[in-house]
Amino acid sequence: MGFNVAIDGPAGAGKSTIAKLVAKETGFIYVDTGAMYRALAVHFINEGLDGEDVSAIEEACKRASVSIRYEDGVQKVLLNGEDVSTLIRQENVGNMASKSSTVPKVREKLLELQRNLAAQEDVIMDGRDIGTNILPKAEVKIYLTASVSTRAKRRFDELTEKGVQCNYDDICHDIEDRDYRDMNRETAPLKQAEDAILIDSSDMTISEVVSKIMTYIEKKR
Ligand code: DC
Repeated sequence: MGFNVAIDGPAGAGKSTIAKLVAKETGFIYVDTGAMYRALAVHFINEGLDGEDVSAIEEACKRASVSIRYEDGVQKVLLNGEDVSTLIRQENVGNMASKSSTVPKVREKLLELQRNLAAQEDVIMDGRDIGTNILPKAEVKIYLTASVSTRAKRRFDELTEKGVQCNYDDICHDIEDRDYRDMNRETAPLKQAEDAILIDSSDMTISEVVSKIMTYIEKKR
């Protein structure tokens, strides 16, 4: 079993930014589980499915295979052998992933892939149910959050910087919808594990969050 760090939290809390930096400092492998749900979402979109159509999604799962590989330490996600790492970042893919990840068969499909990675390597894995469900024995569990307005502002700035036209209120609504779905689904909802450390990054810099997590890792190593 590797040394496992679990980071859970809502969309836009900065999990991937923080986890990548912690991975760099520790030499651990960063595993982005959201990318796996997003890869399956690409498959459902390609098949023209409605995110709420549970039986069509269950059926489509049989025709999808998700795997990951690392290129220069960067995670690439493959859908049926094709690299979809860029495609999965589109907003419609994130929304489909939020809907389709409520389907238990979708979660089952990715569970083993995630647990196997953590068993073989020292990992820092981010997602929604890592500390509660995937790696309940993780050495360090972090629940990283931030206010809706902070998360929306970060997303707005990120998109604007990329030259993407966007509206702050729409982003806020999108985040609220995703929080609601992620936290209220029946299977493995987003919630803070009892033994997770709560970090609210609303008024913290990235390096403050990284240092805080590093102190917890160092205590356990
Ligand atoms: O972290 P992200 O935005 O890339 O994740 C996209 C969606 O995938 C998210 O809205 C919920 C789902 N997800 C999940 O249910 N469980 C995980 N461990 C990771 C992501």
